[in-house]
Amino acid sequence: MANENRGQWGSSFGFIMAAVGSAVGLGNLWGFPYKMGKGGGFAFLIIYLILAIFVGFVVMLGELTIGRRTGKSVLGAYEVLSKKFTILGVMGVLSPALILGFYTMLGGYCIKYAIANLGDVFHAGWGFGNADSSAFFNSFITNMPQTIFFTFVFVALTVLIVVGGVSGGIEKFTKIAMPALFVMLLIVVIRSVTLPGAGAGLSFVFKPNFDVFMGTGWISVLALAGGQMFFSLSLGMGIMITYGSYLSKKEDIQFNAIIIPFCDTLIAIMAALAIMPAVFAMGLKPNQGPGLLFITLQTVFASMGFIGPIMGFLFYVLVFIAAITSSISLLEVLVAVYLDKKSEKGKVVNRRNTAIGIGIIIFALAALVSADGLGNNGLPKPFGFIWLDFLDFLSEGLMMPIGAMVMSLIIGWKLGPKYMTDEISTEGHRFRGRGVIMFCFRFVAPIFIAFVLLGQLDSFLHWGLFS
Ligand code: PHE
Repeated sequence: MANENRGQWGSSFGFIMAAVGSAVGLGNLWGFPYKMGKGGGFAFLIIYLILAIFVGFVVMLGELTIGRRTGKSVLGAYEVLSKKFTILGVMGVLSPALILGFYTMLGGYCIKYAIANLGDVFHAGWGFGNADSSAFFNSFITNMPQTIFFTFVFVALTVLIVVGGVSGGIEKFTKIAMPALFVMLLIVVIRSVTLPGAGAGLSFVFKPNFDVFMGTGWISVLALAGGQMFFSLSLGMGIMITYGSYLSKKEDIQFNAIIIPFCDTLIAIMAALAIMPAVFAMGLKPNQGPGLLFITLQTVFASMGFIGPIMGFLFYVLVFIAAITSSISLLEVLVAVYLDKKSEKGKVVNRRNTAIGIGIIIFALAALVSADGLGNNGLPKPFGFIWLDFLDFLSEGLMMPIGAMVMSLIIGWKLGPKYMTDEISTEGHRFRGRGVIMFCFRFVAPIFIAFVLLGQLDSFLHWGLFS
């Protein structure tokens, strides 16, 4: 049961905006388009949509339900279910910490790019000027004090909002930020699809093309789409458990479990519509990693004449907002776990100090990742990876899918339909499609996730099984 010291969402809309704020982030605005670029456009889109419905929605429903039922953050929630599952809780704490390690750096890059575009609006020396986009990016990421500084700013802003608490900080901020983000993205989409030559980008995304289904290549695409989906929906690590634990019993969980993935997918597709036409119109390729966001797109803005820096500024502010609303959810999981633990022991809890303390630890990790400069600054490479990819692989590639798989199995085989029904059908709501959904928990989701894991391992360890 929700205890008095734990927060609760002020309104249904506020909860949805906070959850959508967590879901919509760099994953949508950058990960989705770039993985779509790698995964062959349309084929990726189709596989992603299938996964979002049969796995994403189902796991979302499971997490929100467990969260509200136990009234605990992730570590505590799994302990309540059974001591055996504590390891899941531990992964649920590790993943967000690892993700924050690189996420906050990319957030910092966005601040830098928003400022530099603004500099161009005023023809000021701190803009891009005539610099080549790729040279500018390389000189920025190899400038350690600067990247570490911007990472620090991003971490500090995240901490500030989390200190404000669940309804006073997170909800208040996301209620304004998310609708603003939607409007800004719409403006960028309109500009992009009306560029001369936009058609090639649009057909890359929407023109049916089933080539990849001929061989085993689809497993790689499935892995790509699956990792992306868990990341994008903030699943498999306890964020939605934590957010669900602040949810009132009056809420229709099932409706929320549909609307959050829906909004998230909508924004991801809009991001593809904003990015692909512009990239193709310029004759560039959409398959770069961070380069897509900071080199390719900046090249596009630079080519737009006087409106370019304004669009650029708008775009990077947008990405920044999306990133910070996700980043606060990541920090919130950690803070909630700590506070729950303390108050269980009857200790007085202090949200502010907790958020700051955890913020410092995160900053230390993020400073390391920033210093790595995407592998350009000569830092040691863990298992041959650059730091960003390494942390991303551990969290998105392994822990999140494993977390989601075990949770589906627990719900499907251990807790069973009664547990779910009891919690979902409070206050006259019904558990709709119960048979099909339970079947997904038992079979569909675990099997899909097994393929996702296999494909992730294959691509990271270069086994070369599927091509
Ligand atoms: N979902 C966020 C995004 O798409 C990232 C994130 C992952 C946030 C996991 C919270 C938990 O960018």
